[in-house]
Amino acid sequence: MHIKLKGKSKNKRYQMKKVLVTGGTGYIGSHTVVDLLGNDYDAVIIDNLSRSKIEVIDGIEKTTGKRPSFYEVDLCDKSGLEKVFELEGQIDGIIHFAAYKYVGESVAKPLMYYRNNVEGLLNLLDVVKKYEVDNFVFSSSCSVYGNIDSLPVSETTKLNPAQSPYAYTKVVGEMLLEDAKIEIPANFISLRYFNPVGAHTAGFIGENPAVTPSNLVPRITGTAAGKFDKLMIFGNQLPTRDGSCIRDYIHVMDVAEAHTAALKYLSKLNHLHSHEIINVGSGSGVTVLELIAAFEKVTGIEIQKEITAPREGDVIAVYSDTNKSTKLLNWKPKKTIEDMMLTAWHWEKANT
Ligand code: WQD
Repeated sequence: MHIKLKGKSKNKRYQMKKVLVTGGTGYIGSHTVVDLLGNDYDAVIIDNLSRSKIEVIDGIEKTTGKRPSFYEVDLCDKSGLEKVFELEGQIDGIIHFAAYKYVGESVAKPLMYYRNNVEGLLNLLDVVKKYEVDNFVFSSSCSVYGNIDSLPVSETTKLNPAQSPYAYTKVVGEMLLEDAKIEIPANFISLRYFNPVGAHTAGFIGENPAVTPSNLVPRITGTAAGKFDKLMIFGNQLPTRDGSCIRDYIHVMDVAEAHTAALKYLSKLNHLHSHEIINVGSGSGVTVLELIAAFEKVTGIEIQKEITAPREGDVIAVYSDTNKSTKLLNWKPKKTIEDMMLTAWHWEKANT
């Protein structure tokens, strides 16, 4: 394949400054916008507010002292998307978060998941091509690995069948980028997040979806706060050390920093047409029961819980090999499980 060189081919300025963040009022998106603003990037947010709230912009401003531009646009509305590019002028990079993310919901509503997650990405890629954006970071997920016997999983681990439509939308997203990098003169990174949890330590942003959350940590904190009667534990007879699922929980501020590190990595590349896949995890596997116990220990609150059947679409165990992220991004997560549980709890208390 012919590799085009940056700058030589397009005669553009390579100091990355203005970054478009789709889904920037969402959970990981808002923490990433805060990190970008703290690193002197300009952030432009687009979000359709279907799963997040406009007040998040105030939270970002309170945290950073800066107010990002915001456009209420759905990625399935391509002309609305193009209008943002016309109004904003040169966009140096895109971080694409906007997508649905609930495993259980995706099993019940696969068409909605494929339409939103895949059509949104396709429209965005058309715009990347049309407006010659050089740098693109895609939110992928550890769920693409499926059930893998040999843990931890590294980026070279052969993927097993995905377990949910949600996970397949991320598999398709990565495949799309792998093919699109030939047609589009840009550099792509797919970040495979493990399980981002916790909230910003400043206390103004956290996980606050406009729909009832179904991820574990907001269910734990919501149960502790009395919003839910009890926490359902999806399985305790699985082939793991205590019978419950294993995940790699990572503080959302660490995940946000990985995006800034990814942009810095992209801005140093001197060629185009590339796609890197990078795990963003802590490297440690924690069971559902261990995570609940950690929450109970740091807060002193006992959670009402009930064991129920495994959730359809869940993988049993997954955690990350972190070698590639350390080497390529020069990034390592810093926060502990206790930090994750405490910040999540402080955020819940302030917002119940
Ligand atoms: C974690 C564990 C459940 C709720 C999520 C995101 C996905 C992705 C990875 C990026 C599982 C168990 C949950 C409950 C429970 N990547 N659980 N009771 O499914 O691993 O996927 O992280 O961002 O986008 O959705 O996360 O928090 O839903 O579940 O027992 O009420 O907790 O079975 O083992 P999941 P989760």
